[in-house]
Amino acid sequence: MSPDATPHALAPALSVRDLRKTYDNGVQALKGVSLDVRPGDFFALLGPNGAGKSTLIGIVSSLVNKSAGDVEIFGVDINRQRGEAMRLVGLVPQEINFNLFEKPFDILCNYAGFYGIPREEAAARAEEELRRAHLWEKAQVMSRTLSGGMKRRLMIARAMMTRPRLLILDEPTAGVDIEIRRGMWKTLREINGAGTTIILTTHYLEEAESLCRHLAIIDKGTIIQQGSMKKLLSQLDVEGFLFDIDGDVPHALPDITGTKLERVDDHTIDLEMPRAMDLNRVFDALNAAGIRVRSMRTKSNRLEELFVRMTSREGQ
Ligand SMILES: Nc1ncnc2c1ncn2[C@@H]1O[C@H](COP(=O)(O)OP(=O)(O)OP(=O)(O)O)[C@@H](O)[C@H]1O
Ligand SMILES: [Mg+2]
Repeated sequence: MSPDATPHALAPALSVRDLRKTYDNGVQALKGVSLDVRPGDFFALLGPNGAGKSTLIGIVSSLVNKSAGDVEIFGVDINRQRGEAMRLVGLVPQEINFNLFEKPFDILCNYAGFYGIPREEAAARAEEELRRAHLWEKAQVMSRTLSGGMKRRLMIARAMMTRPRLLILDEPTAGVDIEIRRGMWKTLREINGAGTTIILTTHYLEEAESLCRHLAIIDKGTIIQQGSMKKLLSQLDVEGFLFDIDGDVPHALPDITGTKLERVDDHTIDLEMPRAMDLNRVFDALNAAGIRVRSMRTKSNRLEELFVRMTSREGQ
């Protein structure tokens, strides 16, 4: 084993440099992507359909061959030390891809077997992972009888069998209801809290906002933004609020310089204003116009606004 075949303690969990992928049909799915994910991070990869997210994940987990560029996982090069790199990564693909006629316990043990984990060790890990996924009582039932949410948790438990240092999930909560999604968030937070670096792709932006500390936005094969979730959100220069009004909203609203005030319905006003602006100016103007605010809430998901702006800025 060469000296650098051992994962590097201080290396990024994932380092991607100028990664390119052109499929055989000529589609350029990645056009020079560079990305860093630090150890222990919870990282979101966001982007519209066809942006290149699954291609990127496929390359990192050695399912897709890259055309050019470098990828290292904890300092281990995915080409030069493929086996070692693969052992560091656990992948939860978007589609359910276990045998529905096998039992959860066997699915986990057999998976471990592929990775050369001895049967006894595999059985111990399977119990641990099934308990963590709240599936231990389902260990011996036919997987086909599991609910959709249980099936997804089983996929995560399976990926955890090899004790990956980097867990990658491709749209883990696509199409699952909010209750199941919340349950999965809890599981993922626990896994991350125990030290596993997590990267996920998602179309649910509130999921990224709630779980992830860093993110990258990819569009048409190019990273258009990356950084900390907090910093990115704070860059948003406009904030939106909804005001619930005592009595009826008048048809003519006061003009407050720099803001956009719109009537939504008889009792609701929509406000957009620069983030740096003092909200009291708005209240003063509304009071002067005889409009009393009973309550207020922040408008849409801020990340969603950011995302829409960024991916549509080319005008298409
Ligand atoms: N096996 C393939 N052969 C040819 N083209 C492909 C292949 N897989 C993906 N592509 C193309 O590469 C581009 C990126 O696809 P990719 O699946 O990586 O996007 P994505 O961001 O995961 O999208 P989604 O959000 O819809 O899952 C798309 O134009 C897609 O059609
Ligand atoms: Mg995809």
